[in-house]
Amino acid sequence: MTKAEQETSALMSTATETPATTVQAVEAAHVLQTYKRQPVVLVRGEGVWLIGDDGRRYLDLLSGIGVNVLGHGHPALVAAVREQVGELVHTSNLFFHPWQGPLAEKLTRASGLERAFFCNSGAEAVEGCLKFARRFWYTAGTPRPQFIAFERGFSGRTMGALSTTWDEHYRTPFGPLVPEVRFVSNDDPDDLLSAVSEQTAAILAEPIQGEGGVRPLPPQIVAAINKACGSTGALYIADEVQSGLGRTGHLFHFEALGLCPDLISVGKALGAGVPIGAVLVSERVAANISAGDHGTTYGGNPLACRAALAVMDTLEHGLLEHVRRVGPIFAAGLRELASRHAMVVDVRGAGLMQGLVLDRDAAPVVPAALERGLIVNRTAERVVRMLPPYIISEAEIAEALSRLDAALTAVQGA
Ligand SMILES: Cc1ncc(COP(=O)(O)O)c(C=O)c1O
Repeated sequence: MTKAEQETSALMSTATETPATTVQAVEAAHVLQTYKRQPVVLVRGEGVWLIGDDGRRYLDLLSGIGVNVLGHGHPALVAAVREQVGELVHTSNLFFHPWQGPLAEKLTRASGLERAFFCNSGAEAVEGCLKFARRFWYTAGTPRPQFIAFERGFSGRTMGALSTTWDEHYRTPFGPLVPEVRFVSNDDPDDLLSAVSEQTAAILAEPIQGEGGVRPLPPQIVAAINKACGSTGALYIADEVQSGLGRTGHLFHFEALGLCPDLISVGKALGAGVPIGAVLVSERVAANISAGDHGTTYGGNPLACRAALAVMDTLEHGLLEHVRRVGPIFAAGLRELASRHAMVVDVRGAGLMQGLVLDRDAAPVVPAALERGLIVNRTAERVVRMLPPYIISEAEIAEALSRLDAALTAVQGA
């Protein structure tokens, strides 16, 4: 054993009463430092609450960045995963298993697109959309090299998904990326209309930009996407990784905007914490995809599909209705809060995907909220982003708003 291994082993042997500082020291020594974590060690979750190793309770308005839509420890998810772990976890895609087909059926019914391909994350889902769009045009005999994406858009961190991610800070160190991606303004439709041509394989847009600062796609851009696709044949990819599967009170937010995607990327909410993503494609696109064109070892394995089926069932049996009811209550509460805090200049979003736009850097709000037992996130510098679990109750919303109120007051006064 090396000295470092001995130290780690000594630290790990005290794992049952591991103090936060020890957990942080082991990570600092061995984990690639790509994340700036909050100084909290979370060990358990109950509903909308997360519990730290010191017993402190945090009201979770972030859901692991839009993932834990059933909250923590939801009985339907626990039962499905427990049962499936005991039966069969993984098969590879070389065999059939009973759960992938039914999940594909639910997702295709919900979206109106005809076929599903399963993967393991949001970035992989976007990657799949980009590949399938290229394959569509290649099979059609008229290959199209170009993709159009939007300023402030975020698609993930793999090479393809990074290529349609706007922020230079994420992209520049990793170039060269996929060529022929053009970014257009997310409020000037003429910019989009002049960029799209018969060389455009697809236009990719999040119905509400998440990482870009909770920015709903404006109606004039929606109209321009529909017009550009109609006149050039370009496909439309709806990146619903953050806005999809009930988050805004719609199963998919593109429906609310009047968009007609040929491909949809899904992730985050789909497994409620069990990693799974999906690409949904229209029959027209599917007809141009052949066996062997794309694949993944894990994608759509029995465990992930059982978890996702539990999420879809729960959504169908009242949870989507619940989001439709509490989403506007949450938004109204945030608007009321904004009216009392001069530094809040806007409230943006839909349903349980909301952002408070500040007149300054929102970073100090995160620790101020954490101190008050509330988990929120800052994105796009000036935006406090909230993506609560769908199960959040009216009383929990009121509690969260009161803690956020106190955090904003502390930041304003600092
Ligand atoms: C719209 C959108 N697309 C893709 C991704 C990438 O998903 P993942 O982090 O699961 O790879 C994200 C993640 O935040 C996202 O918000």
